[in-house]
Amino acid sequence: MTAPLIDPFARAITYLRVSVTDRCDFRCVYCMAEHMTFLPKAELLTLEELDRLCSAFVRLGVQKLRITGGEPLVRKGIMTFFRAMSRHLESGALRELTLTTNGSQLTRFADELAAIGVRRINVSLDTLDPDKFHRITRWGRLDQVLEGIEAAKSVGLRVKINAVALKGFNENELFGLVDWCGAEGHDLTFIEVMPMGDLGGEDRLDQYWSLKDLRARLETRFTLNDTTERTGGPARYVRLAETGQRIGFITPLTHNFCESCNRVRVTCTGELYMCLGQEDMADLRAPLRASAGDGPLEAAIRAAISRKPKGHDFDYSRQTVAGQVSRHMSHTGG
Ligand code: GTP
Ligand code: 5AD
Ligand code: SF4
Repeated sequence: MTAPLIDPFARAITYLRVSVTDRCDFRCVYCMAEHMTFLPKAELLTLEELDRLCSAFVRLGVQKLRITGGEPLVRKGIMTFFRAMSRHLESGALRELTLTTNGSQLTRFADELAAIGVRRINVSLDTLDPDKFHRITRWGRLDQVLEGIEAAKSVGLRVKINAVALKGFNENELFGLVDWCGAEGHDLTFIEVMPMGDLGGEDRLDQYWSLKDLRARLETRFTLNDTTERTGGPARYVRLAETGQRIGFITPLTHNFCESCNRVRVTCTGELYMCLGQEDMADLRAPLRASAGDGPLEAAIRAAISRKPKGHDFDYSRQTVAGQVSRHMSHTGG
């Protein structure tokens, strides 16, 4: 038996998020700058290298694999990679293979994702208003995403909607989003906006809507029952007594969840980030390419996990943005 990955704070690392591309067909204002320089293709791990890397993590105890980006479904040949990863579902080593997507390509891929064993997907959607959607994504079309979500639902994929809570933007759609998700049967998770990347004119403090406040507002119409239900990520869930639907809260700012962190992320060039909110990383591409055997790769992974930090330092409480990290969210895939 290989020893599992345990970090210095006795947290077992069982969840790997892999960003397969830094590219995206949208330009969400809190995630990317409008004019991004993308990595040249030669820098990217090939699909075969991604397979080796993920398989090494699975051998080391990872049970949940989430594919992210950029937008993962714009990576050429990505279904080949998903199909390859499904062997770890079949063997029982992986409990979950899933992705976080902007939904734009789901009409093309939902069918096949369901067929290879994906059960549940997370789709980013902050507003149901087509004009606002276009404004927040810069390039996105709401119709296309709604069709994608419908396609996912029709092949039996469970959908969780991720909405970033943004002051003055989707505050007035709180109940609209909840009602729509209730009617469609989707889970819904709200996320506090994090200070990632230099976004030029974007002001985090102006955008920030605390989920403490959002929750209080929800309570004016619904009874919120806390649950112990977990999906393996940072969200804490309530059930609305009136409708039975599940609402999640991801609260890096108002309630730090780092003590139970179970995850690390790899970028499309093979950088391993041990924490979303810190700059430290380890290069896994070099050991991957240096040897046909996986010994050096596994050693590099273990060495990196042994320096996983305690948590992030994001903090807006002094009316300034503290703990900002320089890379964009699209670099690490959330
Ligand atoms: P589930 O499997 O449904 O629990 O998904 P998840 O919440 O793990 O994944 P998803 O990609 O939907 O992430 C939702 C949001 O949570 C994104 O904005 C992520 O950036 C944020 N998030 C995920 N993991 C972490 C983390 O370790 N730290 C912080 N600060 N934010 C995180
Ligand atoms: N703060 C919080 N969430 C963000 N996301 C992207 N950028 C940010 C940010 N700065 C969310 C997306 C997606 C998930 C992967 O991360 O909306 O749902
Ligand atoms: Fe884990 Fe870092 Fe996220 Fe905290 S901020 S939950 S330690 S990845």
